[in-house]
Amino acid sequence: MKENGIFITFEGPDGAGKTTIINLIAKELNDVLLTREPGGIEIAEQIRRVILDKENTAMDSRTEALLYAAARRQHLIEKVKPALEEGKIVLCDRFVDSSLAYQGYARGLGMDEVYAINEFAIEDLMPDLTIYFDIEPELGITRISKNKGREVNRLDLENLDFHRKVREGYQLLMERFPDRIVRIDASGTVDEVFENTLNVMRGRIANIRPLS
Ligand code: TMP
Repeated sequence: MKENGIFITFEGPDGAGKTTIINLIAKELNDVLLTREPGGIEIAEQIRRVILDKENTAMDSRTEALLYAAARRQHLIEKVKPALEEGKIVLCDRFVDSSLAYQGYARGLGMDEVYAINEFAIEDLMPDLTIYFDIEPELGITRISKNKGREVNRLDLENLDFHRKVREGYQLLMERFPDRIVRIDASGTVDEVFENTLNVMRGRIANIRPLS
């Protein structure tokens, strides 16, 4: 039960600049909860540390998928659902599409298989809108290497081929969920991407509730 909250998720390959843009968006809107996955609450941040620890090279792909789903469940129950029930706009940096693109497609576990474990985790709580920041993997990786303040995690260490597959995975998701997922070209400047994102959000969710 979402009450009158609005659930918006932000997705994209690593280095798309998603986090920078979401922070700007959150300042623009009232009554917003900004959060992220994996993490956002203590138990899920603990799981995040295990998943992304560069030392955990032995982690099996299915273990990885299950840990993301577990972190997602706890975060949804403790933070996202209560905020939606209070009528807030919830902006979430990554959600189930990340698992479908990264674990389902790029790791080769299968999107339907990964969706099945996520269905168990989220029940039927899917986003109202998903903004997908699209970037060429080469440009994304160059941005990551230039951003000195950013954590370098286990998935960042994957090769270019993996990041290409992640992008292909997102392209398949756009075909599968054309009404929910909106693509934004993330190769432009921060100002351009921010303006485009805000315009899309205003246009798409005005029919749910006016944005301030
Ligand atoms: P972040 O850098 O956007 O915080 O995300 C951490 C990494 O985790 C990023 O490389 C994407 C990856 N990830 C998955 O592989 N599956 C998931 O379900 C989520 C939420 C993130």
